[in-house]
Amino acid sequence: MYSLLFKTVFARMDPEKAHRLAFALIRLAACLPVVRGLIAARYAPRREELRVHALGRSMPGPFGLAAGFDKNAEGIDGLSLLGFDHVEVGTVTGQAQPGNPRKRLFRLPPDRALINRMGFNNDGSAAVAARLADRGRARGRARGRGSSGGSGGSAGAAAVVGVNIGKTKAVPEEDAAADYVTSARALAVHADYLVVNVSSPNTPGLRALQATEALRPLLGAVREAADEAVPDRRVPLLVKIAPDLADEDVDAVADLAVELGLDGIIATNTTIARDGLGLSGDPSVVAETGGLSGAPLRERSLEVLRRLYLRVGDRLTLVGVGGITTAEDAWQRILAGARLVQGYSAFVYEGPGWARKLHEGLAERLAASPYATLAEAVGAGNRKAEAA
Ligand SMILES: Cc1cc2nc3c(=O)[nH]c(=O)nc-3n(C[C@H](O)[C@H](O)[C@H](O)COP(=O)(O)O)c2cc1C
Repeated sequence: MYSLLFKTVFARMDPEKAHRLAFALIRLAACLPVVRGLIAARYAPRREELRVHALGRSMPGPFGLAAGFDKNAEGIDGLSLLGFDHVEVGTVTGQAQPGNPRKRLFRLPPDRALINRMGFNNDGSAAVAARLADRGRARGRARGRGSSGGSGGSAGAAAVVGVNIGKTKAVPEEDAAADYVTSARALAVHADYLVVNVSSPNTPGLRALQATEALRPLLGAVREAADEAVPDRRVPLLVKIAPDLADEDVDAVADLAVELGLDGIIATNTTIARDGLGLSGDPSVVAETGGLSGAPLRERSLEVLRRLYLRVGDRLTLVGVGGITTAEDAWQRILAGARLVQGYSAFVYEGPGWARKLHEGLAERLAASPYATLAEAVGAGNRKAEAA
């Protein structure tokens, strides 16, 4: 059904317009009680055996929507209805900005991939903080009335909300930390976890912040700002890295994260490489500048994750993202060391039933495995490989 809709409607539209339309429908569905109930019953029932504990929260499952889909925190409840266990909003920057000129998002359907150079188009930290505060108040009122709030019915557990922050393009690189601090101060209070994004390829100079000399003071400043802004709760802090880092730089970030007491690493963002694009015939699209995501990214993201797990083990929460399409992909990421997994590009191609399919497949794999819980399976693939 969705593949027909994709072929006949979305694929004929400009990808960014299609995104806006699909997202508007998701948000609309969350506002209409009857529709919300129907969707929740179809897409959101969670499997108790997939419940995970991560980043100080109990989550209905390990599978979240990666940053970039809901940049401005406008549709968390609708996305939660579709079965995402966590939703990472952003990237949000200190100041509002329009992003790069259009056209800036491209599909490569035969490769199940996307190329984007959105450039952090977003409403800015103050506006997104205000939106998250409104949502918090609305949920508080709904709880007061005894209803289940935004998620509805058996969806029950609302998604955990991560907030991903990045640098405003106009801010010079030497002032990057202050810009992240502006966002952390405004947003930490609304975040179940906070992510320092230093890995998008579409903001000049951003990825240089992954070098430990730049990353150390940046992470320190964001940690301090979050602690000052939210004195009664330690907001978990993660860093999101690029798949294009050299292996030794992956190790250096891992060591730094442990040293600084970070809570986790998200691996990975999009790649500037163009490997693995075997099928998409249109070389002009392949040549577009930007970050490649989707299936061609799978192997490198998995490799980075595995490397991270071998380095840090269970000391950090590792979040696996990049090219996850099927339940098997997600399962392999968990065996490689991911406590949480995320995806974005496959949502475009798989549609609203994607999270449910993933949950079902994961539950089947867990049942057929020697592990009683998902937590037991985390990193088990690496432990086996080491023992062999
Ligand atoms: C259109 C688009 C926009 C994105 N925007 C962001 C962003 O703002 N911040 C971020 O950290 N990652 C962003 N990403 C990267 C995703 O969060 C994810 O790391 C990457 O796409 C790999 O996952 P996937 O292969 O499942 O898409 C974006 C990805 C896409 C496709």
